[in-house]
Amino acid sequence: MKSLAIFASGSGTNAENIIRYFSNSEFFKVAIVLSNKQGAGVHERAKKLNVPSISFSKEAFESGEAILDILKTYQIDFIVLAGFMSKIADNLLAAYPHKIINIHPALLPKFGGKGMYGMHVHRAVIASGETKSGISIHYIDEHYDEGPIIFQAECPVFADDTPESLCERIHQLEHKWYPEIIEKVLTD
Ligand code: GAR
Repeated sequence: MKSLAIFASGSGTNAENIIRYFSNSEFFKVAIVLSNKQGAGVHERAKKLNVPSISFSKEAFESGEAILDILKTYQIDFIVLAGFMSKIADNLLAAYPHKIINIHPALLPKFGGKGMYGMHVHRAVIASGETKSGISIHYIDEHYDEGPIIFQAECPVFADDTPESLCERIHQLEHKWYPEIIEKVLTD
């Protein structure tokens, strides 16, 4: 059995979807959820599904030491970022080479980089007049949104889309693909 940690900062719809997907797996389980936001919705979702969730300060994530300790305690093999809005410390990257993946709500390398997260991304996509957007699942490296891409899927952007309507379409793609791609990466 391989154990996964999910890092999330927001509502946690992806985290919930991933926990549910693996809940009957013989091979993989979500052992813990870590967050840099104490009041984030992801904690309620994890609790409902009986997965422990813990908050750490921004400083703790930046230093990485306390995070490494907890990952060791829970014997974590692989880390999934699902709407995680803090930087991953270098020591964490070194301890989990090619074992940390992220999902980005646009077609990287477009609309990536610092400040490009959540609704900011959808607003920028609409403002630029793009006719398609999508999701990118990629390995994490020391630069924001620049690690090797594992998978992308596209969806249309309609002329009358709002950031909210585009966000919903993107979430549907994320929920469809992220668990499957995680499983594939863990299995290959
Ligand atoms: C997701 O759309 C994810 O792609 C995005 O945050 C959202 C979290 O939604 N991540 C980023 O923007 C990272 N740069 P959720 O809390 O409902 O899972």
